[in-house]
Formats: sequence, C-alpha cells, structure tokens
Amino acid sequence: MSAEFEELQELVLADARRIYSETVIDHAMNPRNVGALQDADGFARVTGPCGDTMEIWLRVKVDTIVEAGFMTDGCGTSIASGSMVTEMAKGTTISKAHMISRQDVLNALGGLPQESEHCALLAANTLKAAIKDCLAMKEHPWQKAYRRQ
Ligand code: FES
Repeated sequence: MSAEFEELQELVLADARRIYSETVIDHAMNPRNVGALQDADGFARVTGPCGDTMEIWLRVKVDTIVEAGFMTDGCGTSIASGSMVTEMAKGTTISKAHMISRQDVLNALGGLPQESEHCALLAANTLKAAIKDCLAMKEHPWQKAYRRQ
C-alpha cells in the first residue's frame, strides 16, 4: 500500500468517525456472517422502503439459532446492521431472537444517524421474517423443497 493511499484511507476513516461509532465502522468494513447458508432452516428476503433488500438465512438446532448468514444490496450501514443482527441472533433461542428490535440493533451498534436508522429496522424485520419462515418449515418441512432462495 502506498503512503498516499494510506493517508487517503485515514482521511476517509476520520470523516466516517465523525458520523459513525467504531462498532458501525468495524461491522461495515469487516462484516460478520456474510453469505447464504445451504439448506437453511429459515430464510427471508425483505425490501425496505428505501428499496434496499436484505436476506437472512438461519440454521437452528432444537430451538437455538446456531448459524446465521446475511446478504444485502444496501448501504454501509445496512451491512453493519445485517452483520450485527446476525451476531445477536447466533446462540439465542428463536423466541428470544424474535424479540430483537430495531432499537436493540441500534444500541448494539452504538447508534446510527437518524437518516440511517431504517437500516437497523430492515435488519430486525428480515431476522423476524426468517424466524417466521423457520417456524413454518418446522410445521411443514415438505415446503422446504419448494422454497426459492
Ligand atoms: Fe436502504 Fe440502508 S439506505 S438499507
């Protein structure tokens, strides 16, 4: 990496730090749980009012979420929100994960600018929809074969 590039990167980061928490920057730049899970127990694709879409895949053992993956075509804060919500969901029961709210995601991220708070809502809503799918698949496992992912 050239010195000029490093300097530019530092300037961009310094700018970002004026707006976003360290946690947001970390999750946006090094997102956790990116990608689809094969043969997931729960899946949802939700498009928010801004037109961006998030997808979440869940793997559940008994009633605990053991693995979660996400993808989004949204902004950096939606990447941070997807990363955080999947981290929060992993290792918790589906009933507890279902209660994860937009505010919980915002708190865990150390807040977002008001105009980006809907990104946390998109993440929380997509998780809820994936859990709903999970419960539907538990009741009717044969439907999994017809599910489009
Ligand atoms: Fe659409 Fe972030 S701006 S999800």
